[in-house]
Amino acid sequence: MNYVIRALTIDDIDLLYAHSARALGESGKPGTPYFHIYDSVSPWTPVPEKTRERWTKPLTELGWSRTWGLFATEESGTHIRGAVSMISGDYNSNRHRPSLALGVERDHRGKGLGEKLMRTAIEWTRNPGDASTRFDYVDLFVFMGNEPAIRLYEKLGFREIGRCADRWRIDGTSLGDIHFTLPLRSGIALNP
Ligand SMILES: CC(C)(COP(=O)(O)OP(=O)(O)OC[C@H]1O[C@@H](n2cnc3c(N)ncnc32)[C@H](O)[C@@H]1OP(=O)(O)O)[C@@H](O)C(=O)NCCC(=O)NCCS
Repeated sequence: MNYVIRALTIDDIDLLYAHSARALGESGKPGTPYFHIYDSVSPWTPVPEKTRERWTKPLTELGWSRTWGLFATEESGTHIRGAVSMISGDYNSNRHRPSLALGVERDHRGKGLGEKLMRTAIEWTRNPGDASTRFDYVDLFVFMGNEPAIRLYEKLGFREIGRCADRWRIDGTSLGDIHFTLPLRSGIALNP
């Protein structure tokens, strides 16, 4: 199969939302550990205007996000089968540490594509193309027990800096999470 990774624009939003609906539906199902925080009371809801606003916000403002898609050319057409997002801090005081979110659909895992998506987003974060913007860390949270994701983050140099048991309760399932961070420069202090 032919795969291409590229930054998404608003023209890609329908393909992205179709991917998100498929991928999120796999969470907690056989073969996939829980990986998202939505439940039946607060399900994932696509909000195109919000996505458009976040994708077009300059990095000098708060509330931006950027997403890269994994495009697969298949017999049925072109689909997004994986995506990674970098999401700005909510406050001026934490804008130096954006957060990362990642997912690859089940049939496309184990081929090195999640790692390629991660490397694409991390490379952009090191050089975001805006002279007045500098990021020092990438943060993410992962549920305890999500071994494929944990191994991937460790492989790419993320370090665990905290964990919290019973942080989430998803339709009766208690989940703890681990806070991982990637320092983008040498000499940056992590937790004592
Ligand atoms: C985590 C995820 C993105 C990995 O994507 P992937 O494309 O299958 O991963 P890759 O093939 O690029 O693997 C890269 C590395 O990840 C780790 N890894 C991936 N799958 C693994 C598995 N099943 N068991 C252990 N380690 C695994 C390995 O370190 C691997 O490197 P290696 O091949 O040199 O051993 C994918 O499993 C996924 O989308 N899961 C559901 C969503 C999710 O959990 N997102 C993260 C939320 S925090």
